[in-house]
Amino acid sequence: KRRLRVALLGAGSVGSQVAALLREHADELAERSGAELELAGIAVRNPDAPRNAELPRELMTTDAETLIVGSDIVIEVMGGLEPARSYVLQAINSGADIVTANKAMLATHGAEIFDAADQVGASVSYEAAVAAAIPIIRPLRDSLAGDRVNRIMGIVNGTTNYILDRMDREGADFGEVLADAQRLGYAEADPTADVEAYDAAQKAAILASLAFHTTVPLEAVHREGITGITKGMMDAARHAGYVIKLLAVCERLADRADGEAVSVRVYPALVPREHPLASVHGVNNAVFVEAAAAGNLMFYGAGAGGLQTASAVLGDVVSAARRHIAGGVGVGESARAHLPVVAIGEI
Ligand code: NDP
Ligand code: HSE
Repeated sequence: KRRLRVALLGAGSVGSQVAALLREHADELAERSGAELELAGIAVRNPDAPRNAELPRELMTTDAETLIVGSDIVIEVMGGLEPARSYVLQAINSGADIVTANKAMLATHGAEIFDAADQVGASVSYEAAVAAAIPIIRPLRDSLAGDRVNRIMGIVNGTTNYILDRMDREGADFGEVLADAQRLGYAEADPTADVEAYDAAQKAAILASLAFHTTVPLEAVHREGITGITKGMMDAARHAGYVIKLLAVCERLADRADGEAVSVRVYPALVPREHPLASVHGVNNAVFVEAAAAGNLMFYGAGAGGLQTASAVLGDVVSAARRHIAGGVGVGESARAHLPVVAIGEI
C-alpha cells in the first residue's frame, strides 16, 4: 500500500482530535483511502503546551515550513489569516492537497487559494469550515451542482447558538455562558469573531459563493452580532411567541430589472417558536437550502466542538488521499461566474 505523508498545522481543540483519530483509526483510514496515512509532524506555537489528546512529543514542531516540504496532504487547523494563508500556498505549490477548517482564511483569501490550487491541480477541501460536523459543503458543491439554489437560511455559529439558547432557556448570563463556550472549545481564539458575527459572516460568504457559483466578498455581507441582546429582549421575544437566533440568509435575487444578484446577511432574528430553527438548541447548527428542483432540504448537527469538527476534517483527508493516489486534478473552484452582490437597502 502507498504511504502518504500528512502534515498537521495546529493541535488545538480541532487539531488535537484530528491527530488522535488519525492515530487511533490508522488501519481503517488506510483501508478506506487506499493509502497509509503517516502523520509526519504537528506544527504548533508551543510544543510543550498541554493538549486535549495524548500526542507524541517527537511529532511536535514549531517549524511548519520544513514540515510542509514533501508532504502529500497538509491539514491546516491553526486558524487566522497569517501565517495560515502563506503555509497553505506553500503547500499547494509544493504539490500537496489541502484540508482546512479555516473559514476566516477562505472567506478572505479563498479566490487566491483556489486559483493557486487550480493552477497546479491541487485540491482544497473545507467541509469543516462551515457548520463543523454537518456535511454542507459537498452537498452544495457536488450534490446540488445540477440544480439551482434560490435561498439558504441557517444557524451557522455554534457558540452564539449555545449562548442565546442558554440565555433563553435558563436565563443564563451572557458572559458566563461565553466563558463556558470557550472552555468547551466551541469559540474562536478571539471570541469577538463569534459574538460579533464575523465567523457567521465568513461562513455565509462561503455558502453563498458555493450555492450561487460566484465569489461573495466578505465586505458585501451585512453583519450584526449578538452583543446587544439582553435577557429582557429574550424574555420579551418569548412572551410574544418568538426566540432570538443568529441567522445567516443567502438569497438569489432573480427578478431585478438589471439581472440576477445575490444578497447575504447575518443578524439576530426573531424566529417563531413553532419554526424548526427555534428547536435548534445548544451548540447545534441547522442549514435550510431551497433549491428549484430538489425543493427544501435541511441539514442539522453539531456546529462546533473539537471531536465533531475532526470528523469532517478526516472525511476530507480520506477524499484527498484517494484523489492524491489516483493522481486527480483540481476541483475547479476558481472557475466561477461573478454575480453582483447587493446590500440590504438595495433589495
Ligand atoms: P485553537 O486556537 O484551539 O488551536 C489553534 C492551534 O494552532 C494551536 O495548536 C496553536 O498552537 C496552533 N497555532 C496557532 N497559530 C500558530 C502559528 N502561527 N504557528 C504554529 N501553530 C500555530 O483553534 P481550534 O482548534 O478551535 O480551531 C482551529 C481552526 O478550526 C480555526 O480555523 C477554526 O475557525 C476552525 N474551526 C474550529 C471549530 C471548533 O469547534 N473549535 C469548528 C470548526 C472550525 P499552540 O497550541 O501551541 O498555541
Ligand atoms: N467558533 C465556531 C462556532 C466554531 O462556534 O461556530 C465552528 O466553526
